[in-house]
Amino acid sequence: DPSLRDLADRHGLRMGVAVSAHLLDNARYAEIAAEQYNSVTHENELKWETVQPQRGQFNWSGGDRLVDFAQANGQDVYGHTLVWHSQLPSWVADGGFSAPELEGVMEEHISTVVDRYADDISHWDVVNEAFNEDGSFRDTVFYRTLGEDYIATSLEMAHAADPDARLFINDYNVEGINAKSDALYELASSLLDRGVPLHGVGLQSHLIVGQVPSSMQANIQRFADLGLEVVVTELDIRTNTPASEQQLQAQAADYTRVFQACMAVDGCGGVTVWGVGDANSWIPDVFPGQGDALPYDHQYQPKPAYWAMHEALGGD
Ligand code: G3I
Repeated sequence: DPSLRDLADRHGLRMGVAVSAHLLDNARYAEIAAEQYNSVTHENELKWETVQPQRGQFNWSGGDRLVDFAQANGQDVYGHTLVWHSQLPSWVADGGFSAPELEGVMEEHISTVVDRYADDISHWDVVNEAFNEDGSFRDTVFYRTLGEDYIATSLEMAHAADPDARLFINDYNVEGINAKSDALYELASSLLDRGVPLHGVGLQSHLIVGQVPSSMQANIQRFADLGLEVVVTELDIRTNTPASEQQLQAQAADYTRVFQACMAVDGCGGVTVWGVGDANSWIPDVFPGQGDALPYDHQYQPKPAYWAMHEALGGD
């Protein structure tokens, strides 16, 4: 039986998975990550609080471990993430920096991280979760200090550090057409008009069984029509736990819907699922009583959702 990555390669699609470097000690986890996926994303190891917990002190251990794993397995690495209000160390969030000082802090962080992995990381979520649900800009230290230009500034800094990197803005609840994705669309259009180096948008896609937005394909299409690459960057489709067989079947149908929406649009670069298996997902910690959202179960066995992806990619 071909793997997901074999099938995705035939379409030139990214079939990615979020990996936690320390979980690679689990042989079954590592085997699935290596055999089924042609791309990996660090689940946490490249976030600011991990990479630069104190000013000027950089920690590359987890980041390097997964990059080494990807190279050993012939995988692409999708970089996550440079500028985000969460998992941001307090020396930045509460640092009381002036605008020029904060720009200096951002430049030091972005250029150091992007430059270190310039040969290894092809795509970056440069700015993560910039919007509120109503489409206004999220109130973060970056927005408060620099205004919305912090986004263009971040993209310019990343581009200067690696002119070959493909630079993305990534967010959740922007999968369908709604106020938040409209705001992302307006931002992307205006950045492109201004010649800012933006190459794509990431639709995180933390979805709920039965609630894949019906406008997902049309939404992907409108961003692609701007000339942008669209990637489904963090797919999981949660349900109440433990999931019933019926819910697992409905979930599989939802995975199919997401793959069909992507594969119908030239310019959709592919899909990354947000974890190897249900045993390691972030969801139960944040939404107690929910989860079972990934293609492999708690014992690392493939679920109907796995076979839905397999079939959507042309396997049988
Ligand atoms: O490393 C510490 C450990 O030392 C400590 O004992 C433990 C106790 O809680 O926490 C560990 O840190 C956790 C970290 O994951 C590593 O496992 C944090 O508490 C926990 O909050 C953190 O959660 C991550 C979350 O981002 C943080 O916002 C999830 O693993 C990760 O899946 C999740 O990913 C995000 C994307 O980056 C952006 N989009 C949404 C997505 C889901 O929230």
